[in-house]
Amino acid sequence: MNGITRAYRNFVHSRKFAKLGTGCRFIGRDLTVEGHVEIGDYSRVREDVKLRASKGAKIIIGKRCLLSWNVIIECGELIEVHDGAGLAEYVRVRDGTHLIYGTEANWRYVPNYFTPVIIGEDAWIGSGAYVSKGVKIGKGAVIGVGAMVTKDVPPYEIWVGSPARYLRHRTHDLPEELQKLADELIKKYGIKEDRRDW
Ligand SMILES: CC(C)(COP(=O)(O)OP(=O)(O)OC[C@H]1O[C@@H](n2cnc3c(N)ncnc32)[C@H](O)[C@@H]1OP(=O)(O)O)[C@@H](O)C(=O)NCCC(=O)NCCS
Repeated sequence: MNGITRAYRNFVHSRKFAKLGTGCRFIGRDLTVEGHVEIGDYSRVREDVKLRASKGAKIIIGKRCLLSWNVIIECGELIEVHDGAGLAEYVRVRDGTHLIYGTEANWRYVPNYFTPVIIGEDAWIGSGAYVSKGVKIGKGAVIGVGAMVTKDVPPYEIWVGSPARYLRHRTHDLPEELQKLADELIKKYGIKEDRRDW
């Protein structure tokens, strides 16, 4: 992509947000933003992301977040993605559902109801995962590819599967081989620092 295309896309897409931080990058040709959507400094949004907030609802994306290809966030009340969180390709986040209880009525005609979703600071949500209504994902938590997350995930835990279940903590009680791998890779490559002064 050349500089003119990049600048054009950034200009066009940045106008879609209710609040826009500095240094955001909108890389894709297509980006759907409907309703009230805020995005913080230095966040990055890739191709064909869809962010839709109903009337009166809010999607609030923090600083330094990544929304990768084809992410969908559909909001009826409140969805927050906190600073530094990363949503890999095809992640879907929704804070509501059709009422399916106490009636046999068609799904079209029953009420929708909503409970806010929070994706915590530095959390990493793997490709194709679905984050369901009312879920809070803790700081630094990791969600595996294809997970269906229906329960709160505590900070720094790794959850996988459908429905998502605890796999292990990122630093506590690691099997010896994983601790060894971590020690080797960190010794060899270090931990990168932020390139900017946030
Ligand atoms: C969750 C994840 C981080 C775990 O990585 P890991 O610790 O190296 O996992 P392993 O491959 O050693 O698997 C450990 C166990 O978890 C299971 N597992 C791993 N990922 C899983 C997933 N996505 N769903 C279900 N089970 C999974 C494995 O089957 C294995 O189970 P077992 O111990 O019963 O054999 C990784 O599998 C993952 O999903 N990463 C996200 C990748 C991604 O989305 N990248 C996008 C680019 S930003």
